[in-house]
Amino acid sequence: MKKIFVNGYGSIGSRLVSFLKDDPEITLVGVGKHTPDPRVRHAILQGLDVYVPESKMNAFSDYDVSGSIESALDKSDLVIDASPGGYGYQNKKNLYEPKNIRAIYQGGESVTGAESVSDLLFNSRSNYDDALAKYHVMQGSCNVTGMGKILEPLRERFDNLVRFDVTLIRRWADIEQTQKELTDTIEMTQSPHHGDDVKMYLGQDAPLYVRAIKVPTRQMHLHIMDIRFDSTAPRPSEIHDIFADESGVAILWTAKGTKDVRDYAKTMGFNFTDTNMIHIHANMTASIGDTIQIMYSDDQTGIVIPENHLLMQAMLFERPYAKALAHTESIFHMKEKKLKLEEHFAKSVL
Ligand SMILES: NC(=O)c1ccc[n+]([C@@H]2O[C@H](COP(=O)([O-])OP(=O)(O)OC[C@H]3O[C@@H](n4cnc5c(N)ncnc54)[C@H](OP(=O)(O)O)[C@@H]3O)[C@@H](O)[C@H]2O)c1
Repeated sequence: MKKIFVNGYGSIGSRLVSFLKDDPEITLVGVGKHTPDPRVRHAILQGLDVYVPESKMNAFSDYDVSGSIESALDKSDLVIDASPGGYGYQNKKNLYEPKNIRAIYQGGESVTGAESVSDLLFNSRSNYDDALAKYHVMQGSCNVTGMGKILEPLRERFDNLVRFDVTLIRRWADIEQTQKELTDTIEMTQSPHHGDDVKMYLGQDAPLYVRAIKVPTRQMHLHIMDIRFDSTAPRPSEIHDIFADESGVAILWTAKGTKDVRDYAKTMGFNFTDTNMIHIHANMTASIGDTIQIMYSDDQTGIVIPENHLLMQAMLFERPYAKALAHTESIFHMKEKKLKLEEHFAKSVL
């Protein structure tokens, strides 16, 4: 039985622990909290052991915490860092490296520059094997993960791809971030990191060009992608067929917007109202000359959770990809969720 600690109990950390609790191969040591607020009690009520920084123990005297983060790391085999962007690097330097513990970092960190947390940016579909037995690996962010789920199967299927142009329409805030106001504007992102991040696993020569804007919604990201071929592009159905058996990619025909997908996930009682996948909006696919136009929505908080679970298996269990995918499937039930989504948003028959 391997022991895992999750440092951070926000949007990503709380989701991670809810699935890790269901994994019979894992003992969840607990979660790290940094602010003494009602979320501490929330975590304890969920049956979790809460650990806090040694230096802040006094501030948590009103709560029944289980000890210091430092002591939790001492009894863990791997830590999943789910701290706000940039803090993962500090935690690596101050805690994880000195304690020689394996660590997974999230997409708000960096794999280049002075504050790089790793030389590997993980995308299970692209470089799973590179993470086997590694000590420090960064999971790609939600947008970066979503692009890999589309681009890697396309690259496997076609050898005449010329160029990918992507416009990322990013959500402003997460569902639970009710205190974060949505500003009535369309914000432009100068020099988005997402294209460079994707090239860390696709290769620096990938002909990928990314633009990004942020819009006032909590309901997922939407990616608009043009895929250029060196001759006439395939038919839309040929593109959709590639993803028929692809884990974590659903083909939807009748969703009018991203909220329809989220609302359906809520109705079906999916954990945290997440689908944990991307959704190709098949009614928007068009083949024009040498170009395929597609749109897909990306469940911002949910998509990286099964990815973390796969990465954990590579680093800790050194398990082959197919076996890891099967184990993740047994916990996340991705096939069942995909089927339900595809049935609900099936092509309407007149
Ligand atoms: N939200 C998304 O949709 C999304 C998607 C993909 C990737 N990510 C990435 O995942 C990471 C976490 O994002 P999030 O949205 O979950 O953030 P979040 O909701 O703000 O949660 C961050 C958590 O980290 C804790 N924390 C604060 N300082 C810390 C430290 N020094 N060490 C460890 N934990 C600390 C906070 O604890 P207290 O509340 O107790 O202070 C809080 O529980 C970021 O790198 C982000 O870019 C986010």
